[in-house]
Amino acid sequence: MGEIIDGKKIASQLFEDLKIKVQKSIDKPGLAVVLANDNPSSKIYVASKEKKSLELGYRSYVYRFDKSITMGKLIELIHELNENKKVNGILVQLPLYEHLDEQKIIELINPKKDVDGFHPINVGKLYCGLEPWAKCCTPKGIIKLLKGYNIQIEGKHAVVVGRSNIVGKPLAALLLKENATVTIAHSKTKNLKALTKTADILISAVGRPNIITADMVKKGAVVIDVGITKQYDRFLKGDVDFDKVKSIASYITPVPGGVGPMTIACLMENTYELFLEQNK
Ligand code: GUN
Repeated sequence: MGEIIDGKKIASQLFEDLKIKVQKSIDKPGLAVVLANDNPSSKIYVASKEKKSLELGYRSYVYRFDKSITMGKLIELIHELNENKKVNGILVQLPLYEHLDEQKIIELINPKKDVDGFHPINVGKLYCGLEPWAKCCTPKGIIKLLKGYNIQIEGKHAVVVGRSNIVGKPLAALLLKENATVTIAHSKTKNLKALTKTADILISAVGRPNIITADMVKKGAVVIDVGITKQYDRFLKGDVDFDKVKSIASYITPVPGGVGPMTIACLMENTYELFLEQNK
């Protein structure tokens, strides 16, 4: 029976640590979050980022827009936030409304305030083995979970299912930095099961419930579930068939309570680190 990785616990230690550091500092970190999308999940994510920022004593700036927002107005806002000394981190919640150019907006954010680590300069630094200004939150959180449970990464075969810019690609770079042997699988991968069966660390970031079934997992593998799909009954469901896989895996993350809390914890840590860097 695999050990259940408690993301909530590791995240709350990180929150406590940040709260104390902020209480001791004269100035406060500032996080700006931009929501230009009416997706209900995005609204919930943004509300929880705002709530956590305030709980930790950060300055929180949230900009919510309806569909009438234009590219011009959004560009103007990003320029203002880049200039605003009280704002240390800028997060543009993705996806944006369809008429907005996501990549152009990401590239306008000052890379030193790019708290998501999505700017090509930060992605490039990551892939060069350099320190980006900020590392993407979900991948960073996954590495913290593995380290928090003393799970060896070096020399292990890590299979990442999903190649998104938000999770799959940056996670592959971070795992490589930790000296794992990394394979990225995606929707066009042939015989996914044969590949996942060879994984010592299997990470799924697809967003389709039960795409990872028990027959796809090697005995003793570490299984990390990044998927979150809201079911018709409003319950959240991961990518992994948790009940069956937990008896095969050595460690497994639940949904909710696994990777999710770490994403927001790393966002708060990134904001704090950018704040320190900008006040050097
Ligand atoms: N949408 C889903 N995950 C994320 C994330 O980590 N950052 C941003 N900006 N948008 C997202």
